[in-house]
Amino acid sequence: MTDKTILRALRGETLPTPPIWIMRQAGRYLPEYRATREKAGDFLSLCYTPELAAEVTLQPIRRYGFDASILFADILLVPDALGADLWFVTGEGPRLSTIESQADFDKLRPAHAIHDHLAPVYQTLRILREELPEETTLIGFAGAPWTVATYMIAGRGTPDQGPAHKMRVEAPELFEAVMERLIDATIDYLSAQVAAGAEVIKLFDSWAGSLEGAAFERWSIAPMARITAALKARYPDLPVIAFPRGAGERYAGLHGQIGADCIAIDQGVSAEWAAANVQISGCVQGNLAPEHLVTGGQALVDEAQKVMRAFSGGPHIFNLGHGITPDADPENVQRLIEVVRAGI
Ligand code: CP3
Repeated sequence: MTDKTILRALRGETLPTPPIWIMRQAGRYLPEYRATREKAGDFLSLCYTPELAAEVTLQPIRRYGFDASILFADILLVPDALGADLWFVTGEGPRLSTIESQADFDKLRPAHAIHDHLAPVYQTLRILREELPEETTLIGFAGAPWTVATYMIAGRGTPDQGPAHKMRVEAPELFEAVMERLIDATIDYLSAQVAAGAEVIKLFDSWAGSLEGAAFERWSIAPMARITAALKARYPDLPVIAFPRGAGERYAGLHGQIGADCIAIDQGVSAEWAAANVQISGCVQGNLAPEHLVTGGQALVDEAQKVMRAFSGGPHIFNLGHGITPDADPENVQRLIEVVRAGI
């Protein structure tokens, strides 16, 4: 048995103060991240250079002593490894070759052929397992198939995920082929992350909220459930965190439907609602609105305490409802950690 606080919460323990980490904790709000990113040249080189990726992963741990560290990488490395030619346009975001036809899909590599390309990510995890303090949990991750598919099909981020919705309705067989390839590749990728030292896996379904009705279960929840089941068949003790962002009231019941140990919750629902409807069936993670790390002040303290108080009756990992933004003040992050560790 380990004493790591995150693992204890994930096993269902209610702790006197919640462990804390924050999404995108290694990122542009930190001057030391910007310096390393400059040294790497561009964002993808940073992801694929193990020594530098490990360095930026460790920066927020050294500065703040978070309870967990998340591998520095990106959800779009899987399509890159499948052959989708990923690049990043500064100030705009990711670009990939689009998938518009069966011929585009046929150019992709098979799922099992991703590992040569992703070997630097596995090396980053090995370095981190050596260098992290022993109390810090190492989280590996991948995008959930639906969210990754929205970028692959459109070739970029889109406000409404329109091209992926159009394909799932108008070319269902092609869409299903894309999803099946992503499910298989994600299982292989995450299994290799665990073999390299990841202690917990998180699935990011950032665009789950744009799926409605039966499509939400079929394309967000069912693929995450399949990936979780496959990982747990290989690694029975592996804790899994699922983040179907924007699920709203559909967050209720998801521990059971996905088979996940923890459901990460965005700021679209109140902590009180989530405690009554989601935490009753297991550990939850979340859900302070990221803008409080920009604006700070008494509102940051009050809102952080409100989240802690709401979730104090069950297993909880403190986090934001979405990633920290580049304009956040590093001193507000310090303040947040002090408030959380002081308890309610
Ligand atoms: O949380 C962490 O610190 C771990 C690393 C991580 C990154 N991206 C690093 C990153 C994780 C877990 C992600 C997940 C990710 N990436 C998601 C899902 C979570 C979410 O935020 O919704 C998505 C949709 C992506 C795709 C992606 N990556 C986009 C759309 C962008 C551009 C937008 C932006 O913020 O610039 C990225 C780039 C990216 N990924 C950065 C970082 C630190 C910024 C890159 C830079 O240094 O310029």
